[in-house]
Amino acid sequence: MFLNTSKETIQQLTQNWLKQASTIDLNNINEGQVQELKNIIRFHEHQYYVLSEPKINDFDFDCLFKLLEKIELKHPNLKTKDSPTQRIANSLNDGFATVQHLVPMLSLANSYNAEDLIDFDRKAKEASGLTEIEYCVEPKFDGASISLIYEHDVLVRAATRGDGVAGDDITTNIKQIKSIPLVANFSDYGIEQIEIRGEVIMTKSSFEAYNNWLAEQGLPQVANPRNTASGSLRIKDPKEVAQRNLDAFLYHVSYVQKSKVESQNQKVNTNQPINHSINQQLISHSDYLKMLWNSGLRSPEKEKKVVVGIEKVIEYINEFEAKRDELPYEIDGMVVKVNNLDLQDELGMTSHHPRWAIAYKFKARQATTKLIAVEFQVGRTGAVTPVAKLQPVYLGGVTVSSISIHNEEYIKEKDLKIGDTVLIERAGDVIPQIVHSITDQRNGTETTIQFPTQCPVCKSELFKEEGEAVWRCINIECEAQVVEKMIHFVSKDALDIKSFGDANVRKFYELKLLKDIPNIYTLNYEVIETLEGFGKKSAEKLQDAIEASKQQPLHRLIYGLGIRFVGETTAKTLANAVDHILDFKNKTEEELQQLEDVGVKVAKSIQHFFSNTQNIEMLKQLEQLGLQMKNDKKQFVASGDLAGQTFLFTGTLSQLKRSEAEALAEAKGGIIVSGVSSKLNYLIVGEDAGSKLEKAKKINSVKIISEEEFIKLVQD
Ligand code: IVH
Repeated sequence: MFLNTSKETIQQLTQNWLKQASTIDLNNINEGQVQELKNIIRFHEHQYYVLSEPKINDFDFDCLFKLLEKIELKHPNLKTKDSPTQRIANSLNDGFATVQHLVPMLSLANSYNAEDLIDFDRKAKEASGLTEIEYCVEPKFDGASISLIYEHDVLVRAATRGDGVAGDDITTNIKQIKSIPLVANFSDYGIEQIEIRGEVIMTKSSFEAYNNWLAEQGLPQVANPRNTASGSLRIKDPKEVAQRNLDAFLYHVSYVQKSKVESQNQKVNTNQPINHSINQQLISHSDYLKMLWNSGLRSPEKEKKVVVGIEKVIEYINEFEAKRDELPYEIDGMVVKVNNLDLQDELGMTSHHPRWAIAYKFKARQATTKLIAVEFQVGRTGAVTPVAKLQPVYLGGVTVSSISIHNEEYIKEKDLKIGDTVLIERAGDVIPQIVHSITDQRNGTETTIQFPTQCPVCKSELFKEEGEAVWRCINIECEAQVVEKMIHFVSKDALDIKSFGDANVRKFYELKLLKDIPNIYTLNYEVIETLEGFGKKSAEKLQDAIEASKQQPLHRLIYGLGIRFVGETTAKTLANAVDHILDFKNKTEEELQQLEDVGVKVAKSIQHFFSNTQNIEMLKQLEQLGLQMKNDKKQFVASGDLAGQTFLFTGTLSQLKRSEAEALAEAKGGIIVSGVSSKLNYLIVGEDAGSKLEKAKKINSVKIISEEEFIKLVQD
């Protein structure tokens, strides 16, 4: 195979092929020659995409590639599944089949400081009886998890993590990633089948290039490399995946099956050493990283470090963190793995994560930039939010150019002025925040932020309720509010009208094709199909989606109305409390407060909404238009074994999606609540549970249970 042939020989063969490329007789090509050409192309792909050491220029590479394409066109029988040309995807993905992982894809426990790591090391030493442990420390790549299966050296399947047990088959899309070889040299190690885990990432430069391309096409920008990488995995058109120039690191072998000769076809666990044919033992994680690298895959072979003792681990983490910004890709921490595979086996795993590895999460990224201006935006409830416009700055995977600065008090508290240099930070997925202004860098030209007294959109006077920090426009006909309310009404968690995104709502409103919520159901499709970007088909699709939304259950409608303080959970509680939505007209504040999760503030807001005649008029119109106004009690009958019991989930669940878990509890008559209080019966704790868990521990009556215990509870 190509990796075993010397570079000099391959280079010589490359030159020979280039010389004869234009004159070669395509009718007289034999299988051996095609095999040689394929291997040459594979070699150059590996040099370029994995090692970043190209050995020929792009023009010559294209010449060899086109030649192979021509040969395969002439001799279709020589076109094999593992040919380099097979990355080219000609057809669209037609949905993604669900496939089982050979070994469940567990996640890692997290640590945030040296103490957490010392604690991890102490437990590992106690469990093993060892005085010092050897660790392999490597970057924690910030992308999307995948698993690959190679059989007889050929990539046969790639899948997303999914729920950890089964994921989506994304083989065609993964074949667009050039650093993932279609053929690798596992047979040299006596391996017949192997399952590998890794991370698909987008480098900083590919991210920038992709955003520039989007800008040229007039398309919206993507937020950060991680979301773009993970979003790319399930794209329908593999060509679009190829265009994004994704990369991948492979960092874990979860399963191997040795070839018959080596093992009499006996399946082995990764954690058992393999004697491969060139007599190298695979007894540690770092051996595996090396084996992956030698087989042609991009493992963190060059980035990892093997050290003895947790102090050395901490040292390497600090060293790596210091050069984080210079890396060509984003990492969000480091992963510390017990290196010896036997010891890994001995330490075992919990149901969520291995006890032999831990992720170390880096602290929030910070940057300084200039606050250039402040704009004021009006939301659907009339709240006027100041947004700081910043000199664009790259921070933790995103270019930040504006940040919400919440309200007048916040501005005072942070002492923000236009022209200030500000310190901003972003922790993980969290929205960037201004930490503070750097006042000693002021030069006297800075100006105070003037809060408007009039609505920036409809110019009516703004009001502030006592005890509130937010200024509001209370003109319910204010254009900004009307539009934002409609956007909320059609959104995913409300009426979920697909293909009716923000842009269409705004466009139809501007063109006076849409004026209010009931008007969504009386649109003029004859005009819509003539609009730019539409046509008969898309107008029909929109109409179908709008019609279908009439059948959405009552709780979605209640949520879609955008009543202040009424989130999805409260909307469900409300839907369960009445037979018909207009019954709320007659409910007193006290009656409303009897409901789960409804306090004084929420009750007041609900009553305020239902005592407004315009709102009642709108609901009557919606009923006439055919929307679901009655409580379909069947959906939420509180008749199961857990009738009336309240549930709250915190942290990341490993086996169920949050929405699935909530649905399971509800199917048994349970009620999902949004906060910890003495009214809470069960808190289900996933990974990385935070303040909710701490709060619940202080209330004796709350039963704190794991995801497994919850599953048992709803299955019983
Ligand atoms: S090891 C059983 N190594 O981080 C082994 N994971 O928070 C599990 N990740 O789900 C994974 N870089 O998606 C491992 N060098 C690395 C990693 C890594 C990124 C991701 C992976 C995992 C998540 C856990």
